[in-house]
Amino acid sequence: MENRVIIGGQWGDEGKGKIVDALSRDVDWVLRYQGGANAGHTIHIGKEKHVLHLVPSGILHEGVRCLLGGGMVIDPWSLRDEILALEQKGHEVRGRMHISATAALLMPYHMRLDELRESRLKRKSIGTTGRGIGPAYLDKIQRTGLRMGDLLLPAENLERKAIEKILSANEVLSEFYDAEPVPARVLAEELVVLSQFMSPMVVNPYAVLRGVREGTESALFEGAQGTMLDIDHGTYPYVTSSNSTIGGAMTGTGLGPRSLGEINGIFKAYCTRVGNGPFPSELLGEQGDALREAGGEYGATTGRARRCGWFDLVAGRYAVDVNGMTGVIITKLDVLDNLPTIQVATAYELDGQQTTTYPVLSEAVPRCRPVYSEFAGWNKPTTECRKLVDLPAAARKYLEFLEKELDTLIVGVSVGRDREQMIWTETGVTT
Ligand code: GDP
Ligand code: IMO
Ligand code: MG
Repeated sequence: MENRVIIGGQWGDEGKGKIVDALSRDVDWVLRYQGGANAGHTIHIGKEKHVLHLVPSGILHEGVRCLLGGGMVIDPWSLRDEILALEQKGHEVRGRMHISATAALLMPYHMRLDELRESRLKRKSIGTTGRGIGPAYLDKIQRTGLRMGDLLLPAENLERKAIEKILSANEVLSEFYDAEPVPARVLAEELVVLSQFMSPMVVNPYAVLRGVREGTESALFEGAQGTMLDIDHGTYPYVTSSNSTIGGAMTGTGLGPRSLGEINGIFKAYCTRVGNGPFPSELLGEQGDALREAGGEYGATTGRARRCGWFDLVAGRYAVDVNGMTGVIITKLDVLDNLPTIQVATAYELDGQQTTTYPVLSEAVPRCRPVYSEFAGWNKPTTECRKLVDLPAAARKYLEFLEKELDTLIVGVSVGRDREQMIWTETGVTT
C-alpha cells in the first residue's frame, strides 16, 4: 500500500471519515495529525453509524494501528468516552491506539474560555464548535499548556502541575471574563484518574513510527477540517486554530515529506460550511435549503445546519495548489441526482474585475461575487454505480469539467454514505 494523505479541500465535512475508512483496510497505520474533538467524521457500515471526533477513522478495521499525532489538541475526558463507546459496540480499541506524548492536552477550562470568548465577540463570533480548540492551541503556542506526556508523570507531580495550570486559567476566567473559576483540586484529581486509562497508550511518536519512516510500514494520514479553515491559508479569522493543510501532516506526526505518498484532496460535489465567515458560492433561500435536505447537511459535532452552495472552483484550485494535491476524490455526487441544473463557480468578480486567483485577504473574500457555469442535471440515481461507465452521461460531463478545471485527476467518486458506495478511478474520469 502506498502512503496517502487525506485532506479536506473545502470548509470541512467533505466526507473524509468515509474515505479514510474505505481506504484503510490494508494499511498499517492511520495517523490523525491536527485538530481535536471539533472534528466529526461519520462512517456508515451497513446499519451501523459511527461519528468519530478524536479516534482516527481507521479504527473500524481490525488490526489497523492508530495514532493521535502531536499536532492535535486532545481532551482526555472526550477521548475516554469515545474509546469506551467503541469498545461497547464490540470494537477492540485500546490495544491499537497510540497517543503522541507531544500532543497538547485540552482541559475543561479551554472549553469554558472558548465559550466566553465567542460570547464576547458577539456579532463577530467565529461560530466555533465550542470544543475549546482555540484556547488549547493558544496555550500550546504560548508555551504554557499541558501535554499528553504529562499523564506519564507520577500522580503527585501530575496533580501539582495540573493545579498550577488550572489556577492560572482561573485567573483569566475571573479577572478577564468575570466568570466562575473551575474547581482546581477536583479537576486535577480527575486528571490523575484519567492518566491511568490513558498512559498505556501514550507513546514516543518518533519511536513507534520508525517503520513508516523506513518504508516497511504503510500510513494513511487523516486530516480534519479543511483547507479553507486552515489557520494560515483559510478565511482568517473565520478558521480553526491548526494547519489542516499539508504542512500539518508533517509537523503533526514528525514524519518528513518522503513519507507522505499520494496527497488526496476530498471535495464534495457542491460546498458546505458550518459557522461564520465568507462563503462566496453560498445559496441562500430555497436552493440552499434543498441541498441541505438532500445532503443531510447538519453538523456531525454540533448538529448545526450547514450552509450550502455550489462547487467553488476558485477556492478548489487554490486548495489543490496550496496542498500540492496529486489526486482528488469527489464525494456526495448522489446528492445532486435529482437537480434539474447544477452550477459551478468558475471565477470571482472582485471590485469590477474578473479573477480566477483566490484573493487570500479576509477583507476581499466577502466582496467576491461568483461567476457561474451551468450544467444539465442527470435525474437518475447514481447510488448503485460502481464503475465510471455506470454513471449517467451528464454526471460524467460534470466530473470531467471538475477534473479539467482543477487540473488534477479525480481518483475516486463517492455515490453514497456506505463504505461500498465508491467508484475508484486511478486514471481519472476523462476518457
Ligand atoms: P468529514 O468531517 O469530512 O468526515 O465529513 P462528515 O462526516 O462531517 O460529513 C459528511 C456526511 O456525508 C456524513 O454524514 C457522511 O455519512 C455523508 N457522506 C459521505 N460521503 C457521502 C456520499 O458520497 N453520499 C452521501 N449521500 N453521503 C455521504
Ligand atoms: P471536520 O473534521 C466543519 C469550523 C467551526 C468554526 C471554525 C472554528 O468534521 O471536517 P473551532 O471549534 O475549530 O475553533 O471552530 O471551524 N469547524 C469545522 N467545520 N467541519 C469540521 O471538522 C470543523 N471543525 C471546525 O464551525 O466555523
Ligand atoms: Mg465533519
